[in-house]
Amino acid sequence: SGLIPFVDRLPIPRVLKPVSQNRISTNYIVRMTEFRQKLHRDLPPTRLWGYEGKYPGPTIETHKNRLIKVLWLNKLPSRHLLPVDKTIHGANHGAPEVRTVVHVHDGVSPPDSDGHPEAWFTRGFKQTGPYFRRKISRYPNRQQATTLWYHDHALGITRLNVYAGLAGFYLLRDKHEKSLQLPKGKFEIPLLIQDRSFNKDGSLFYPKKPTPAPPKSPTPSIVPEFFGDTILVNGKVWPFLEVQPRKYRLRLANGSNARFYTLSFTSGQPFIQIGTDGGLLPKPVLVKKLILGPAERADVIVDFSKYKGQTITLKNNARAPFPNGDPVDPKTTGLVMQFRVTQPLKQKDNSRVPVRLNRIAPLFPHQASRVRNLPLVESTDRFGRLMLLLDNKRWDDPITEKPRLNSVEVWNLINTTPDTHPIHLHLVHFQIVNRQPFDVAQFNANGKLMFTGPSRPPDPNEKGLKDTVRANPGEVTRIIARFGPFTGEYVWHCHILEHEDHEMMRPMFISPNK
Ligand code: C2O
Ligand code: CU
Repeated sequence: SGLIPFVDRLPIPRVLKPVSQNRISTNYIVRMTEFRQKLHRDLPPTRLWGYEGKYPGPTIETHKNRLIKVLWLNKLPSRHLLPVDKTIHGANHGAPEVRTVVHVHDGVSPPDSDGHPEAWFTRGFKQTGPYFRRKISRYPNRQQATTLWYHDHALGITRLNVYAGLAGFYLLRDKHEKSLQLPKGKFEIPLLIQDRSFNKDGSLFYPKKPTPAPPKSPTPSIVPEFFGDTILVNGKVWPFLEVQPRKYRLRLANGSNARFYTLSFTSGQPFIQIGTDGGLLPKPVLVKKLILGPAERADVIVDFSKYKGQTITLKNNARAPFPNGDPVDPKTTGLVMQFRVTQPLKQKDNSRVPVRLNRIAPLFPHQASRVRNLPLVESTDRFGRLMLLLDNKRWDDPITEKPRLNSVEVWNLINTTPDTHPIHLHLVHFQIVNRQPFDVAQFNANGKLMFTGPSRPPDPNEKGLKDTVRANPGEVTRIIARFGPFTGEYVWHCHILEHEDHEMMRPMFISPNK
């Protein structure tokens, strides 16, 4: 890219102001528009799509049990910013080229407000998808405090809409979290990490087709996954942040299409991880190398008190594809951002990191009314392109995952592919039971699961509520969840957006108890 790292200050997205508020709900209007924004000192302004004229969008901040209503408005042009492959589900059969629908990721939301991929709408609601139900989405927030994020989810173009800039933070707070005295205010910083590539004129680069492309593939053609050559945090390429020698709370979110990160500090100091996707961990966990797959979040405390005057770089060391692909370039994709401990300590740091953070009621496999074996498999589409599937089924195949309301199920994610897939379930929080290696060749030959080693418990920083789990190659990843509190149609999918857009997504129906 030739861009110089650490020349731009880290932007902090502003908090979205409601348009009205009453006893029942807090109400917002959010417009999706096209605009230009400087993403690096030496880049001309980049044409982007975003919420309320900004990339990333403004942060929605709210409180547990507070109902919020959002009128999401599509004010985007009718032609896409990026190459649209019109042969894949959702983008085919003459569908409008630009469609949007917003999903609040990790939200325990009713099905008509969950951002179902076919609940899309076009500019001014001129056209709507078959699952479109309401203009105003309702988020009851009946869940514990955590770092959520909102992003586009339109079937077949999610990878392009998110890459164009349609993503933002959604922070949910509660009394319990407040009582813990964690760093707050300007010492609490959300960090949305995403990779991008640019053309010389500053425009976003996204490939028109894979290299090499199968001979019969169309143009444009979806790529198996996309990795950018620069890393952005909150919409700036390799930014820096000046900090005081004290504790900070960082809300890390991986908003990349396909890139995983293994984060560490050049100072060698650990992340004190206090929370994961679904909320606070039972107790803080020290992590030297923090792995974040697409859509995973980590709530961490970082203590700069011993580093006065120093410059600390947040680095990445994850191969792409993860975990066995190409190593990072230490000068580009190996860099994330810089912390400069140059500000004087203005006030004594009274924030704390309590030894006990949260109580999480464990779910045990014996509670499960059903165990599902769900293989992640490689396949090819009609153009000879690599296509990944869940349980060998495509998006349009009849629904097979139909848990009963409030029932507990164990899902065995059997990864027969060579890469890690970040598997995300809407609506529910799950716990990771364990991971166990199996004989892939045997399984592919006759469908028999032969384990080749003992099961491993989740990593210490995964022992909380999760909504996205890394299913590693050659392993069965067991997760357990109680399905509820709403009934209706939701989805589960791989959060590598190119996979999700190319059939690695399935509907899921939470069925009422009769
Ligand atoms: Cu963040 Cu269904 O996605
Ligand atoms: Cu995947």
